[in-house]
Amino acid sequence: MQQSGKIGRGADPEIVAATGGGLARAAARLRAGGLVAFPTETVYGLGGDATDARAVAAVFAMKGRPRFNPLIIHVAGLAAAETYGVFDDRARRLAAAFWPGALTLVVPRRAGRGIAELATAGLDTVALRVPAHGIAQALLAAAGVPLAAPSANRSGRVSPTRAEHVAADLAGEPVLILDGGPTRHGIESTVVSVAAAHVVLLRPGAVTAPAIAAVLGEPLARAAATSHAPASPGMLPSHYAPRAAVRMHATTVDEGEALLAFGPHTPPSRGPVRNLSPSGDLHEAAANLFAALRHLDASGAGTIAVMAIPDTGLGEAINDRLRRAAAPR
Ligand code: TXA
Ligand code: MG
Repeated sequence: MQQSGKIGRGADPEIVAATGGGLARAAARLRAGGLVAFPTETVYGLGGDATDARAVAAVFAMKGRPRFNPLIIHVAGLAAAETYGVFDDRARRLAAAFWPGALTLVVPRRAGRGIAELATAGLDTVALRVPAHGIAQALLAAAGVPLAAPSANRSGRVSPTRAEHVAADLAGEPVLILDGGPTRHGIESTVVSVAAAHVVLLRPGAVTAPAIAAVLGEPLARAAATSHAPASPGMLPSHYAPRAAVRMHATTVDEGEALLAFGPHTPPSRGPVRNLSPSGDLHEAAANLFAALRHLDASGAGTIAVMAIPDTGLGEAINDRLRRAAAPR
């Protein structure tokens, strides 16, 4: 029998149904400074109480995440978000249009409101998101604290879109995983900074840039992702990396390669194949992306050949993740 609220070294992840009992255990675990992985509409998050420095430190440690890379703070709604960050007119309009949902707003941080410094990596801004997923919302309500929650994968690896992915990535870790099935979007939230004169797209994601620009009435400024000065600390060139090498814009498949296909016209291949969307639908492709990468990686192929994917709409976020997966490590 598992003991609820017990946090011990060497314990394995435990997947539980997100019913009343599971939620109550998860909330108790969070209030005791422990960690809980939970589904959101984008990917699974690894959550800890954002006001508890030890819990936040445990999140960094469990992921093997560099301390300079700040975490997204998940809250129940705009009112809670405004306790921790300064929302100007633009930020309020974006929140009204996209929250609850897959948009993360980086805004000036309100100091002294209880968020652990480590969670924001000492920056004077804070990343806030109100998740739409019912289980995430139920967990926030039950725990009664803001949750610092990066994606629930080991740092640099592909984000988890199923409870089983979390359990595989965090094997040997004492984490409780609330099972919500596969996530809807399959790709992380879009991160924008609303902390300066221009609204800047820091990370393309499940909400498209044109949709955000339409609400703002002006185009988004783009952050250049370079290893020297990442605008968002998490925008490292090599990220979201499977173990296999990744070859982009493939039109043919070599011996020993796996194929990540898109659309109806796929090149002949003798190795393992996953098609992100045989009909060429970008929403379907985003939802399937990380599970497909995991599957092809597990096949043992040395290289994953990836067909070209249009760079429009959600394609921008998909290509962003694929480019990072293909970057030299
Ligand atoms: O969909 C998502 O956003 C998921 C779910 C769990 O909510 N979370 C997620 O978290 O993807 P994570 O930690 O993997 O990515 C957070 C991104 C990183 O690129 C980080 O550098 C950036 O947000 N970020 C966080 N705080 C920031 C800040 N104050 N300024 C700039 N970028 C920030
Ligand atoms: Mg991540």
